[in-house]
Amino acid sequence: MTNLTDEQRQKLIQAALEARRWAYAPYSHYHVGAALLTSSNRIYDGVNVENAAYPDGICAERVAVFKAVSEGEREFTAIVVATQNGGTPCGSCRQVLAEFGLDTMVLIADESGVVQQEMSVRELLPGSFGAASLTKNEKRKA
Ligand code: THU
Repeated sequence: MTNLTDEQRQKLIQAALEARRWAYAPYSHYHVGAALLTSSNRIYDGVNVENAAYPDGICAERVAVFKAVSEGEREFTAIVVATQNGGTPCGSCRQVLAEFGLDTMVLIADESGVVQQEMSVRELLPGSFGAASLTKNEKRKA
């Protein structure tokens, strides 16, 4: 687990808050901004993008991860998720974050940028299914 400097932390929170304005959420009106810090010290942001065909929408966290991965990044230090009320990442986003490392820190901020909760992906998704689960010798628990 990498500790963020105060500067990195503030920059990341600010990036998530600023991204939030671009959320496309005409159905839920729940605007989410995410900002993901890579080990190369770059920030990729993301917002939720909804669709009239509801299940086709996507969360802010996954947009940020997919943007980063599509630019060649695979190592993530931290992600800030900013919402009006400090909501936590959904199960699908936890799973997508887990794919790239259980040590990534997740900071949950409210609309004022106050961090309400802070935990690792490991803590957010205990007992996660990952690449190791697919190997032949992995014991399967009933
Ligand atoms: N949403 C996110 O962007 N991230 C989450 O972790 C939880 C939910 C979005 C999906 C949908 O556009 C809206 O918030 C309401 O569920």
